[in-house]
Amino acid sequence: MRIAISTGGGDAPGLNAVIRATVLTAVHRGWECFGIKRGFGSLLGESDLMPLGPNDVRGITHLGGTILGTSSRGNPLKWRTKQPDGTWEEHDRSEELLATFRARRLDALIAIGGEGTLGIVLDLFKKGLPVVGVPKTIDNDVAGTAATFGFDTAVATATDAIDKVHTTAESHERVMVVEVMGRHAGFIALNAGVAGSADVILIPEIPFDIDRVCEKIRRREAEGRHFSVVVAAEGALPKGGTVSLIDPEHERLGGIADKVAHSIQEMTGKETRSLVLGHLQRGGSPTTFDRLLGLRFGAAAVRLIAEGKFGHMVALDPPRITAVPLADALATPRRVSIDSDTIATARELGTSFGD
Ligand code: F6P
Repeated sequence: MRIAISTGGGDAPGLNAVIRATVLTAVHRGWECFGIKRGFGSLLGESDLMPLGPNDVRGITHLGGTILGTSSRGNPLKWRTKQPDGTWEEHDRSEELLATFRARRLDALIAIGGEGTLGIVLDLFKKGLPVVGVPKTIDNDVAGTAATFGFDTAVATATDAIDKVHTTAESHERVMVVEVMGRHAGFIALNAGVAGSADVILIPEIPFDIDRVCEKIRRREAEGRHFSVVVAAEGALPKGGTVSLIDPEHERLGGIADKVAHSIQEMTGKETRSLVLGHLQRGGSPTTFDRLLGLRFGAAAVRLIAEGKFGHMVALDPPRITAVPLADALATPRRVSIDSDTIATARELGTSFGD
């Protein structure tokens, strides 16, 4: 067997753990492994395949990023090229990708990615690519699995930042608004916000009313708490409003913390600052949870290939790792359930969701 591994979409702590487990498990079975560089790059003529043996994956479990590189752009089925007049043209390069896959005598692909990459992989599977998926994302928005690796590390980073913001907010008697990632899911904001004792948490699943946010800050002020910490998911939006985009063409979210901070200062008279944690949340050494999940996912992906379970992704269904058809996992994106226990707990602790 000759198998290939690719990492696509935004990086997440734990990718290298998956790669190491995949390579070692495959080599243990006497299989050969190859890395595809920069997403699907090596299958689209960008570079050669990268032979991967035990020496190439030594000592990488604890490293952030991916030794294969990744790309959040470049869907082979909707490849975009800029025309001389500045417009973009889209074309399908999937046949070229499949031809290279066969020419390199590859038998299977393990594609590690989030919702976007797994969607591409499902389309390629339908066109004949023998592929197994591994769900990855700091956003935790892939259904069918209790968790994606990368999320736990991102939440730990965000919680640590919120703790730090707390002390400066209190010293200066200010309101601090912290923007965290998550795209259209509020998992990072909710978990880090609750763990970091935020006073207000804004998530996409609960559109907010700025009057209610300010009410909470004024109430704290009246109680002698002269500072407040607001955690806003990048995809949070006001009731009846829309999400904030910094790059509408590529649908890049951002800017909500700044807008909320501006309104709070104007409406309450409290000095307010905002900060965006951004890509800090994607870096660093994976937590024990993410390392272990990554290693288990990698080994399980090789097992799925051995069983011929293509078109599936590995998933966590505690305490087991299972296989879920990609089509089922991608049918509905995972979002924070507004009647979840974490939301109920936060409300009981006095946290406002601005609703
Ligand atoms: O999906 C992971 C993620 O980090 C999102 O939380 C964020 O919106 C997006 O990727 C940022 O993407 P980029 O790396 O292209 O800026």
